[in-house]
Amino acid sequence: MMLPPPKMAGRRRLLPCVCLGLFAVLCWVWVSFASFPDEQLHPNASSFDAVNRGAFQPQSALSDMEFASVASYRGPGNSDRRSNKELPILLWWSGGLFPHFPGDTERIDCATSSCLVTSNRKVQLYKRTASIIFYGTDFRAYEAPLPRLHHQTWALFHEESPMNNYILSHGPAIRLFNYTATFRRESDYPLTLQWLPSLEYLLEPVAVALEEKNRLRREGLAPVLYMQSHCDVPSDRDRYVQELMKYIQVDSYGKCLNNKQLPEHLEDTATATGEEPGFMNFVARYKFHLALENGLCPDYVTEKLWRPLHQGCVPVYRGSSVVSDWMPNGHSVIIIDDFPSPKSLADFLRRLDENDDEYVKYLKFKNHRSITNARLLEALESREWGVNDMSKPNYLNGFECYVCDQENARLASERAYRKSPKKNQPPRPKMASNSHMGCQLPSPGYGNVQDLPTDDGWLQIWPQDYWQSLDQAEGLESLIRHNESDPFLLWKHIQNIAVSRARGKH
Ligand SMILES: *[C@@H]1O[C@H](CO)[C@@H](O)[C@H](O)[C@H]1NC(C)=O
Ligand SMILES: *[C@@H]1O[C@H](CO)[C@@H](O)[C@H](O)[C@H]1NC(C)=O
Ligand SMILES: *[C@@H]1O[C@H](CO)[C@@H](O)[C@H](O)[C@H]1NC(C)=O
Repeated sequence: MMLPPPKMAGRRRLLPCVCLGLFAVLCWVWVSFASFPDEQLHPNASSFDAVNRGAFQPQSALSDMEFASVASYRGPGNSDRRSNKELPILLWWSGGLFPHFPGDTERIDCATSSCLVTSNRKVQLYKRTASIIFYGTDFRAYEAPLPRLHHQTWALFHEESPMNNYILSHGPAIRLFNYTATFRRESDYPLTLQWLPSLEYLLEPVAVALEEKNRLRREGLAPVLYMQSHCDVPSDRDRYVQELMKYIQVDSYGKCLNNKQLPEHLEDTATATGEEPGFMNFVARYKFHLALENGLCPDYVTEKLWRPLHQGCVPVYRGSSVVSDWMPNGHSVIIIDDFPSPKSLADFLRRLDENDDEYVKYLKFKNHRSITNARLLEALESREWGVNDMSKPNYLNGFECYVCDQENARLASERAYRKSPKKNQPPRPKMASNSHMGCQLPSPGYGNVQDLPTDDGWLQIWPQDYWQSLDQAEGLESLIRHNESDPFLLWKHIQNIAVSRARGKH
């Protein structure tokens, strides 16, 4: 288990007295941040949707239409002849995400077996309800389905940023789930390449030729682009970029660190979509794109990285610590954390800017044979879900089918074991571990946490949010261990844990 740094001990001792008030406030902060949209490229909030619904958006978990035609798919191995009344039930706890329309219940016929899926919470305590599926961003400890029944598994779907819900990054919470679909390759149904539509997307020819980029440079265009309107995020990226801007010219659009205005025609919501040619050509003129994720976590990699690679610009990246595992080759991305300081990164970028031969080496993968990363090729080849590809299942439907087949297999081996315990083994319990999410404590984008002033905005939000969600994870684990039925007893359990910790018993 991750232990809080010594600094937090004070807060923990204080906890019993201020517990309720503090949690009400933190909860409000947490909820309001959890519901923030992710990346806003434009100052105008409504542009956000347009930008993020570009062609390379994975089939959005939240859009309604796309599910209509892919309700379910029957694999060749499915010879399930049971009627709907006999099938195990999977309950989508986050009803807003239920991937079937219309109605709230549907039969799904998956690769090897069938289930009934529903968003109707009435079935929560049914014996037939084998599994409950949660959407990570909406998961709240104080709304968990309790009591947790022994025969039911929990399944977690979380493809979004770690910042949306840090409770899932703590062992006591993630271990409550039996199946996961997250951005991490270690999860049961990994969504790591959800922002990369295809190999062809990477292999598109360079959008703006180097001669043209050099000409624009001579006209005063900066070598580096930053475009960001989502400013107060756990990765604290602006603090780093601000430092970098002292040493190299950066054109910065959007709300954060703004020093440039977008041309009027691109500020218009209708045209400023991610794949709109005018917008794409505008950003493709830059040699380097600063690509910093909003939260740091292994395998949390978004369009911030894939888009510049698609356009033939060089990403300057911070996000997943193991991003190199997914790169087209060993020389296509500049990784910020490889440099000891913003100044040394700036010096490096300046040298590349002045040396065409060295710069084009970063774009060599555009030649087909240069995609040498077998892991990347294999993962794109083998994933069963599609990104904007109606011929393949959506990954929400894919995951519920994964859970369905797993549950039917588990139920079958339980039946076999009950029938002849001497001949059969009981099914082995299966649960998630920290490697299925496990994102790190947010740290400052530049410098040391000890050096930040106490009124620093980032400091006041993110480390607090992270440790408060650990309290909630432990509280929920305690609720379940005590077979509680009322999730609102969460606050009492958190308080009890704090009290016994203060007495040195925890
Ligand atoms: C955002 O853009 C839309 C459409 O262009 C416009 O109607 C709206 O007033 C803008 N909102 C803000 C806050 O500027
Ligand atoms: C599901 O996870 C819970 C909590 O970790 C565990 O107690 C239970 O045994 C698991 N169930 C199965 C069927 O593996
Ligand atoms: C847990 O509580 C439920 C009802 O609240 C009860 O039916 C069940 O028997 C309890 N389980 C255990 C293990 O005590």
